[in-house]
Amino acid sequence: MNQSNVRFDAVCKSYPRRDETPLLVLDHVSLDVRPGELLVLVGASGCGKSTLLRILAGLETFDGGTVQVDGRSITGPGADRAMVFQHYSLYPWLTVKENIRFSRQLRVVRDNLTSSDVEIASGRSDALLQLMGLTHAAGYYPNQLSGGMQQRVAIARALMNRPKLLLMDEPFGALDAQTREVMHDLIRHVHQLEGTTIVFVTHDVEEALYLGDRVVVMAPRPGRIDSVVDVPFGRARDQDLKSTPGFLDIKRRVLHRIRETSGMKTDIEQLQQLSRHIQAGNAAAALSQGDSA
Ligand SMILES: Nc1ncnc2c1ncn2[C@@H]1O[C@H](COP(=O)(O)OP(=O)(O)OP(=O)(O)O)[C@@H](O)[C@H]1O
Ligand SMILES: [Mg+2]
Repeated sequence: MNQSNVRFDAVCKSYPRRDETPLLVLDHVSLDVRPGELLVLVGASGCGKSTLLRILAGLETFDGGTVQVDGRSITGPGADRAMVFQHYSLYPWLTVKENIRFSRQLRVVRDNLTSSDVEIASGRSDALLQLMGLTHAAGYYPNQLSGGMQQRVAIARALMNRPKLLLMDEPFGALDAQTREVMHDLIRHVHQLEGTTIVFVTHDVEEALYLGDRVVVMAPRPGRIDSVVDVPFGRARDQDLKSTPGFLDIKRRVLHRIRETSGMKTDIEQLQQLSRHIQAGNAAAALSQGDSA
């Protein structure tokens, strides 16, 4: 089975800023991803979720600490890690099936593979088409597909080479609520079937708790890990779970942590203070107008 063990140890990352001290985006982030688990990162906008995922994908450098997959330090992107982004990223000139097989065909050319390798690849792409419910659309081009179908193709393409790690950055962020529900059940099914370790980023707490074995709550300024929630619902889940008292209770607690750490509460308090100040100022002005009348 394709499993992986990821270890972030005291990872720090800053971005330079013009005329200012560098922006510290990740501050000594330490985190393990267990083999075969579906780990979800949640947190307020700007807390460094995508940065952490991109570092794991090898798409971003970091300034301190270590990141290892199966005991090996990451030095750049690799075929052992596949990424699915929020924005559809299919090749528009290739059909659904060609999109799914594209990376495998590159390998056939690069690694001089035999015709039996090609046949195996063809079997794999057919199996993935079926798994994703896309068999009927194998010959379509991306512009003939709905958003949900495009993301299913992107997931199938990512799974084609049996990556050890599937990295997903808000993959369903642009989909409508009903399609998202379908995608949630699909990704849970794929996870159980393929056994791939998945790191999934979202700011939707309900999505995080429905999908995750564990949910990591991150906090911003600087980006850090606030808390880790062991999701206590086992792996046999259905949509009704979302309206159970146990689910709603954890959801409330996670949302509370995000609000507490995001700084938004402070912003709201400042706004309330400001509006009280303005109201007091208006009242004083009205009084002084009354005096002069
Ligand atoms: N290339 C960059 N140059 C400078 N600053 C950046 C760059 N990329 C990200 N940042 C900053 O780093 C911080 C973390 O960004 P990141 O995209 O990781 O957050 P996020 O948690 O994924 O947010 P969101 O939920 O909005 O996607 C933000 O303050 C962002 O402005
Ligand atoms: Mg992001």
